Amino acid sequence: MIEELKKLKEQAKQEIERIKNSQELRDLEVKYLGRKGELTNILRQLKDLSAEEKKKIGQLANEVKNDLVEQFCQIKIEVEANKKREEIDLTLPGQKFARGRLHPLSQVQYQLEDIFTSMGFMVLDGPELESEFFNFEALNFIPDHPARDMQDTFFVEEGRKSDPNNRLVLRTHTSNCQVRAIKEYGAPLRAIFPGRCFRHEATDACHETTFYQLEGLMIDKEISIAHLISVMKTLLTEVFKKEIKIRLRPGYFPFVEPGFELDISCLICGGKKCPACKHSGWVEILPCGLVHPNVLLAGGLDPKEWSGFAFGMGLTRLVMMKYGINDIRLMQSGDLRFLEQF
Ligand code: PHE
Repeated sequence: MIEELKKLKEQAKQEIERIKNSQELRDLEVKYLGRKGELTNILRQLKDLSAEEKKKIGQLANEVKNDLVEQFCQIKIEVEANKKREEIDLTLPGQKFARGRLHPLSQVQYQLEDIFTSMGFMVLDGPELESEFFNFEALNFIPDHPARDMQDTFFVEEGRKSDPNNRLVLRTHTSNCQVRAIKEYGAPLRAIFPGRCFRHEATDACHETTFYQLEGLMIDKEISIAHLISVMKTLLTEVFKKEIKIRLRPGYFPFVEPGFELDISCLICGGKKCPACKHSGWVEILPCGLVHPNVLLAGGLDPKEWSGFAFGMGLTRLVMMKYGINDIRLMQSGDLRFLEQF
């Protein structure tokens, strides 16, 4: 019987190795371990043996059985894995992964950054919580000047306590970066400052308390309005991917002299007058002007030596025009139905 068991073990091993699928696996399991299986047959004969032999052969038979069970387990795992592989249907459409995307504001901001860096401008950042000095004083808004009323400002309680003459405000425009940049880098200087601004607004489709601007500043010797116009035209043509007509109207900002409102011919009607341009054929897009001498002085530059231009593009407004978005509140809504369109 010992011989018989050894032979059985050997034979089973070879057959198990040749198993190719779950059907063969099941058949072999029955053949060796089933109730009428070969091993069971041998075990049944144990009862006719002497006690000593019973012990010896019984032990061996158990070892063989355990060994077979283990081999079947192992092969079962392999067969299962293979079955899974066989089940893959290559004709099924693939599984889609949900991919994130950039907010339309970021997309346009990055596009503008590329255009400006190609013209030699640096991209700089500035604080959103700003001192009154950089947000107003340094930009030629004298203390208590009524011009400050132009922008409803969020004053921050803490700042008021620490220095009543230089309170902290949520910056009302990205122009707060102008004098910071001049102080830091001196002249000549070419920089843009994209960023978030805050004003105390009653919210509606055109107004939000939080919005984005992209400020630009160029300082060099003998900078004129011609430079300003040329840079603005290059920029707008790149953004809208077509030749853009512009016009300048006088505009007042204490930190530029002369100051302008830059309009572009309406992109929707091509200047023929429509509701989108309030039937004027023009859309106001960008306030700008030549840097006021007092701003240069605040930054430590001699206005007789240096001159420059500055502009403050409404980035949020530009994105709305580019994509035909008719409600500014969508921009910060976090609504995926809106965001997934870009
Ligand atoms: N900071 C101004 C505003 O927010 C815009 C501006 C920037 C005007 C630069 C002129 C030059 O209204």
